[in-house]
Amino acid sequence: MGTRPLLERHRAVMPSWMNLYYEDPIELVRGEGRHVFDGEGRRYLDFFGGLLATMVGHDIPEITEAIREQAGRILHTSTLYLVRRQVELAERIAAASGIPDAKVFFVNSGTEAVETALLLATQYRRSNQVLALRGSYHGRSFGTVAATGIRGWSATSLSPLNVTYVHSGYRLRSPFRGLDDAAYVAACKEELRTIIETATAGDVACLIAEPVQGAGGFATPPPSFFAEMKSVLDEYGILFVSDEVQTGFGRTGAAYFGIQAFGVRPDAMAFAKGVANGVAMGGVVARGDLMDCLGANSISTAGGNPLACAAAVATLDVIRDRDLQANADRVGARLRDGLRRIAADHACVAEVRGMGLMIGVEIVTPGTTRPDTALVARILEECRSRGLLIGRGGLLGNVLRVTPPMTVTEEEADEALRILTDVMEEIAAMAAV
Ligand SMILES: Cc1ncc(COP(=O)(O)O)c(C=O)c1O
Repeated sequence: MGTRPLLERHRAVMPSWMNLYYEDPIELVRGEGRHVFDGEGRRYLDFFGGLLATMVGHDIPEITEAIREQAGRILHTSTLYLVRRQVELAERIAAASGIPDAKVFFVNSGTEAVETALLLATQYRRSNQVLALRGSYHGRSFGTVAATGIRGWSATSLSPLNVTYVHSGYRLRSPFRGLDDAAYVAACKEELRTIIETATAGDVACLIAEPVQGAGGFATPPPSFFAEMKSVLDEYGILFVSDEVQTGFGRTGAAYFGIQAFGVRPDAMAFAKGVANGVAMGGVVARGDLMDCLGANSISTAGGNPLACAAAVATLDVIRDRDLQANADRVGARLRDGLRRIAADHACVAEVRGMGLMIGVEIVTPGTTRPDTALVARILEECRSRGLLIGRGGLLGNVLRVTPPMTVTEEEADEALRILTDVMEEIAAMAAV
């Protein structure tokens, strides 16, 4: 059957902990706009965008052409030589960051980007103490796993860092959940101060946070959350690092970096995933004095290579030239409204949340907050069989993640909503018999 032989070969040589979606995993062989095609020619609407890295869609002519043109000239030179596109890209990211005297260092993944930000912050402050939010995901290396607050993604407790977790903006499962926005934020702020005063040695290097928690199921804090938390950090001279690996470059809508929607200027930001529309690239943008604080050489051999930079410049051009941030706001609102209409008819939906094109739908046993992961798996399978790919995540693995490329149209959003409505209705009808 179809992918069976490839699946067996995959299982023989790939790690057991590298999960595949679906009982019958899919091999995607081609993409076009917001659609992908499997080896048997089946077409799917791609509303997970390769884990949010396919930022603006598949086979976008401007990006394909930029990559082809660069590949025909030179693939790699190393940063021992000047890389024009890298400088151009750094200038654009530094300017958009709003960070004064910003400098940029390019790497190849989100993990490396966060690792770099943590290296800078801990070196600058001469402290290995880090604060992170509960429900965070920051990567798969020793340092980033250590700052990851989701059990399912914490492969080891060994750590170069001394991490303490503080309250996040994920209200549904918080003991503060009954509070309104202002009271909730005040409680989180108070807890942050208490943690700094009582659970650390005081000289904390930084707090690292995702503006909207990605793997955490798109948990989205109240608008004043980060400004209030930062006001406490400022009292202690603690740096603030925003992990923009999922939220960067307009995915959350009007804000170019997710944290800007919260009116906060961080000391450093890590980015990756969508910046080059899926071509491997990551980086850190930081205050100049913070970036320059390392007293030894540091290098990333392929970081910011000409090919990745060409893809990134073309991707950022597409976001700007096609006004995709406005599209993310418009289509994102349409999707959230539609999903809330579905939620009104189905008690298994505890919450629809998110910003722009990062939308989470939390699935529970009706009348409780008990996660229903089996139902999530079923919804994913049923969507797939009707030609819609979505993701899953969440602290407890019970959140649907709906996050299409930023070029998504209203018609495609409506098609996805129709499929999700049918799936939920069919599942409800089966449960009733
Ligand atoms: C917020 C966040 N930070 C860091 C990472 C790590 O990125 P990568 O998988 O490119 O190493 C991810 C990946 O999902 C992420 O979502």
